[in-house]
Amino acid sequence: MKVLMIASEAYPFVKSGGLGDVLGSLPKALRDLGVDVRVVIPKYQDIDESYQEQMTHLADFQVDLAWRNQFCGIETLEYQGIPIYFVDNEYYFKRQGLYGFFDEAERFAFFSKAVLEMLPHIDFMPDILHAHDWQASLVSVYHKTRYAHLDGYKDMKSVLTIHNLKYQGVFAKEVLGDILALDESLFHEEYMEFNGAISFLKGGIVFCDRVSTVSKTYAEEIKTAYFGEQLEGVLSKKGDIYGIVNGIDYRTFNPLKDPALSKRYKSSYKSKLLNKEPLQKELGLTVDKDIPMIIFISRLVEQKGLDLILHVVPEILAEGVQLVVLGTGEEHYHQALSEYAERYPEQLSVNLYYSEEMAHKLYGASDMTLLPSKYEPCGLTQLIALRYGSLPIVRETGGLADTVDSYWPETGMGNGFSFSNYNAHDMLHTIHRAMTFYRNPEVWEKIVKNAMEADNSWKNSAAEYLDLYEELG
Ligand code: GLC
Repeated sequence: MKVLMIASEAYPFVKSGGLGDVLGSLPKALRDLGVDVRVVIPKYQDIDESYQEQMTHLADFQVDLAWRNQFCGIETLEYQGIPIYFVDNEYYFKRQGLYGFFDEAERFAFFSKAVLEMLPHIDFMPDILHAHDWQASLVSVYHKTRYAHLDGYKDMKSVLTIHNLKYQGVFAKEVLGDILALDESLFHEEYMEFNGAISFLKGGIVFCDRVSTVSKTYAEEIKTAYFGEQLEGVLSKKGDIYGIVNGIDYRTFNPLKDPALSKRYKSSYKSKLLNKEPLQKELGLTVDKDIPMIIFISRLVEQKGLDLILHVVPEILAEGVQLVVLGTGEEHYHQALSEYAERYPEQLSVNLYYSEEMAHKLYGASDMTLLPSKYEPCGLTQLIALRYGSLPIVRETGGLADTVDSYWPETGMGNGFSFSNYNAHDMLHTIHRAMTFYRNPEVWEKIVKNAMEADNSWKNSAAEYLDLYEELG
């Protein structure tokens, strides 16, 4: 089975969020199952020099997009056994940052078309074109409308995985002919038309052979108006949407071997606790291992439920906990959080940047991880939190609902705490509930053990992807 993964980011080369993490870890798990899997992303300027130096030039050719005919180079390197291809065009990708440019439609149309063009040049005709999110959605559209009749492309199937339905790649309708060079007939509600504009993601959904998303619950949610982002109709019509929950790389996230931790641990809560005081010292919080610590590691955007937290910061702190925030995002959240941090310097630590190392330290030192998301296609944070025994407090939506089981004292089962309504006081009540268990060390140790025993490696999910590919093949 030959699979080409197509995406706009992949760890460790470039990453803005969970999409990059998935592209950095799922391919390895598929390779372990015997799949010949390769990855292609744009060659951005932001890719670290050390990787750029390892790349070798494989091919170059021209790619035409409406009136432009552009140079395209293919560079490659092998990373942990996976061949990675980089689509090189300095005009589109030699810029600082990954996204948010004026010519976004053209950049990713170029990328998608280049991917289809490169296949004969790199001598790899995959069985499955596996595209991720809107930036790679045109791969299915071009495949079906332009390439599927050609030798070598006929038997290929395409899969589109949606990591977040909110981001769709919606552009003015003129883009369709003038830039994408697609037939005007696609400007139709059955195809790419979306509120008088065109949607890349909708095109991908319509033209791919199978849609999947990153949890079972989200696969159902997106067929409803609340979560559907106006694509619920198209998704329902498409039929079965595969929900395959993400995993995490158990080698990268391993508290027993994590170099970022002061004290590494396997499953002992007492050893884990030894990480707390050094971190409190580093963050300028009151140093005392008996103070419960809650962390929030996230992009600071509405989706993640930050509004609920900001609504009740003093009440959360009145529970006697420390709260540590790590991440960047919208400016108004930065401001509101900074103001609270000034008011509560010993209890609240706001870190408006992102660092993998600091994230690992926080997972290792904290007792609870808060994820009150408004919606969450999968969420990787709770999976890492479980692995490190930092009990997740989550809102029951998407992948959070699928991976966190609220603790149930009657049965002793559960690996975290959850609430269902998007409501600040329901969240607060759940934190309070968690605190009552925290005060009983025996119970807490039991829940931490449950959490650390949960298997969220890629093993099972990679096998589900393989089933999906085989079913199409
Ligand atoms: C997006 C989603 C997140 C998911 C990730 C990887 O970032 O918001 O829930 O875990 O993609 O699939």
